[in-house]
Amino acid sequence: MRLFASFIIVLVRICEKMDGFLFRVQQLLTGILPALLPPHELTGMIRNHYDASYKDVATRLPETWYKWTLESWEEDVLARHTMTSGTILVLGAGVGRESIALAQRGFSVVGLDINRESLCIASQQATAKGLTSRFAQADFLALPVGPARVDYLFMSGIMYSSIPGRERRQAWLRSLRPCMSEQGLVVLNFLIARELGTKTHRLIHRLNRLLTMLPGANQSYQLGDTCSQNHFLHAFVDEHEIRSELHDTGASVDYLSWHEGHAVLTWSRNGADPLNQPGA
Ligand SMILES: C[S@@+](CC[C@H](N)C(=O)[O-])C[C@H]1O[C@@H](n2cnc3c(N)ncnc32)[C@H](O)[C@@H]1O
Repeated sequence: MRLFASFIIVLVRICEKMDGFLFRVQQLLTGILPALLPPHELTGMIRNHYDASYKDVATRLPETWYKWTLESWEEDVLARHTMTSGTILVLGAGVGRESIALAQRGFSVVGLDINRESLCIASQQATAKGLTSRFAQADFLALPVGPARVDYLFMSGIMYSSIPGRERRQAWLRSLRPCMSEQGLVVLNFLIARELGTKTHRLIHRLNRLLTMLPGANQSYQLGDTCSQNHFLHAFVDEHEIRSELHDTGASVDYLSWHEGHAVLTWSRNGADPLNQPGA
């Protein structure tokens, strides 16, 4: 029996080693996807990721599993910017976590998400709580909102990082301007890079730089682009990167917390569009 137990222990160690090795291979393979796939395929993968994770969610998870509360950074944003009423557009609303919490505080909330199943839960929950928040299935990369309607736009769940490519993120941000009321604020949540110094990540980045030289590769690949569980995210490398990216859109950064990964933007209050100024 002792001999058998020793044999099992050896097998367990071999499995552990293989597990670590396979994990690194998987990290490497998913790490090179952002350099191989064009941006529209990366965003397509994100949709598939959420379609799979929300599949049959209403029957799979009990209601007690959800929390319809704000995260502490979101609470801070409301307090710091004295947001107490107005229209809020929530992008990537999911099952309605922040939409419902915001509606309970008296905001008029519209939540958009690409996934229908998650919105059904959000909508049922809003009705059960006697709230008038509205939810609609839409792609936040092609906003179906008319000019100058929205007081606040919220994009939580680090979804600003889900848009591949600096220029695409900037073009998307610029496209928000006409949707916002004059004093409108855009609240964005982004991912900050914590692991880029590891050997595996350095190797992935070197490989990706080589891959982007091949025809058909993703030319908008940047250091910080990652893919995990088929979900693309851009992790910002430092505060300068996110600040300069936001600043170059012509928006003013009202507030930015690097450590909490969020920013509050507005556009020029005097009505002038810095992008249309001579020399811009
Ligand atoms: C990380 S979850 C965040 C959910 C919720 N906002 C929260 O913070 O708890 C991201 C959500 O964005 C949605 N989403 C992803 N890509 C989208 C797109 N292009 N347009 C609209 N919604 C999208 C997903 O379906 C998912 O519900």
